[in-house]
Amino acid sequence: MSSALAPQLRLDREARSRLTGHRSAVVWLTGLSGAGKSTLADRLEQCLHARGLHTYLLDGDLLRGGLNADLGFGAADRAENVRRVGEVARLMADAGLIVIVALISPFQLDRQAVRERFAPGEFFEVHVDVPLAIAESRDPKGLYRRARAGLLKDFTGIDSPYEPPASPELYLPTATLSPDEAAAAVFEHLRAAGLFS
Ligand code: PPS
Repeated sequence: MSSALAPQLRLDREARSRLTGHRSAVVWLTGLSGAGKSTLADRLEQCLHARGLHTYLLDGDLLRGGLNADLGFGAADRAENVRRVGEVARLMADAGLIVIVALISPFQLDRQAVRERFAPGEFFEVHVDVPLAIAESRDPKGLYRRARAGLLKDFTGIDSPYEPPASPELYLPTATLSPDEAAAAVFEHLRAAGLFS
């Protein structure tokens, strides 16, 4: 292909959006382990998919088995984890998808750096909030118990901090909202923002 033709052939976001019938975006779910990020992400994706919207889900816990298998839980590795997932999400949004990210992403600076990679109106930060005591009582993987026993270091909420978002697009207290109610709240927020009709 002649390079002179390349600019004409390049598909931009508008062209992809005309094909899918909706805008692309990143819905970034941040919160403690056990806050309900993965459950909410799954319900939200089902809800969007059922309405014919093109989605993909990036779950931190799963990505740590592959793309991010080389990273640990110190601050520098978490920053790199968040950066990488942000870049993958950006590529997927560029391809026309509504990308749902479920990542503890505990540090404000790391989340802000990802936000700055997106145009205004493309990045939706959602604080999936639960009191630590409730997350700890859920403890589906027994990680809080191991962290309290000193068997797991740098555990978020125990011996590693979680910095809540100062002004997220959405705040969801999952101690009082069911997963379906939380998913519906995100869905309505995206619709009101004009992502789809
Ligand atoms: S981060 O902070 O954004 O880099 O973390 P993330 O990639 O979302 O990975 C979180 C999952 O890893 C498991 N796990 C831990 N979480 C926090 N701190 C420590 N030390 C840790 N060790 C293992 C845990 O199952 C997290 O999954 P979720 O789904 O959040 O419970």
